[in-house]
Amino acid sequence: MRIALTRAVSPEIARCELTHLERQPIDAARAAEQHAAYERALRELGCEVRRVAPAPELPDSVFIEDTAVVLDEVAVITRPGAASRRPETAAVADALREFRPLRAIDAPGTLDGGDVLRVGRTLWVGASSRTNADGIAQLRALLRPFGYRVEAVAVEGALHLKSAATLVAPDLLLVNPAWLPPAAFDGMAHLEVDPTEPFAANALLVGTRLLCADAFPRTLERLRRHGLDPLTVDASELAKAEGGVTCCSLVFEA
Ligand code: GLY
Repeated sequence: MRIALTRAVSPEIARCELTHLERQPIDAARAAEQHAAYERALRELGCEVRRVAPAPELPDSVFIEDTAVVLDEVAVITRPGAASRRPETAAVADALREFRPLRAIDAPGTLDGGDVLRVGRTLWVGASSRTNADGIAQLRALLRPFGYRVEAVAVEGALHLKSAATLVAPDLLLVNPAWLPPAAFDGMAHLEVDPTEPFAANALLVGTRLLCADAFPRTLERLRRHGLDPLTVDASELAKAEGGVTCCSLVFEA
């Protein structure tokens, strides 16, 4: 069974953390509708959607990806780089305890799940404004016994590594080369986003199926020309909060 953990949109989402975007009004009700459609898409892709207890007082809590790194053998509860987001992790740990043994990143380490891209037994981890060297070193030490390699990648100009690069097939990356040189990934095969769509690199691979935001038609066309068949959702309101399609779920096999 494939689980997708999600968390409701906070009515306070307009007060979210922002790093690279200008603040603009966010319609929380519309964001919640888009989130519900996103959950329906996850079900269409074969996931059982389970919602973690809501945290209406935590503006960014819908972006559950940042709170944990879930692997087959273990889940690592993160220590998010934004202090306002640290209270998000406790309820996610409670929800994950049923499925995985837990480990945790401790102070002074910081790590956001949005900075962690797993490709097989390698985890590419963004050294970003949210994830520090201590957090990456802790993740490396925690995962070494399970046979994972942790490689740091410098991220500048993007919030998270997965703002700039995600997997669109088990052996194929989608990359925004303006934010991250594709060569950072050991010569892995890659497609580039259309240069007019810098935020398009954030796509969610669920098994062999792909979920993308519908805001990036040129990049979607590139994916289709490559033989991929992405399902699309409107995530425009959540995008104003600097979140993409990977940010709103933690997907794993139960
Ligand atoms: N608003 C998403 C984040 O900054 O974490």
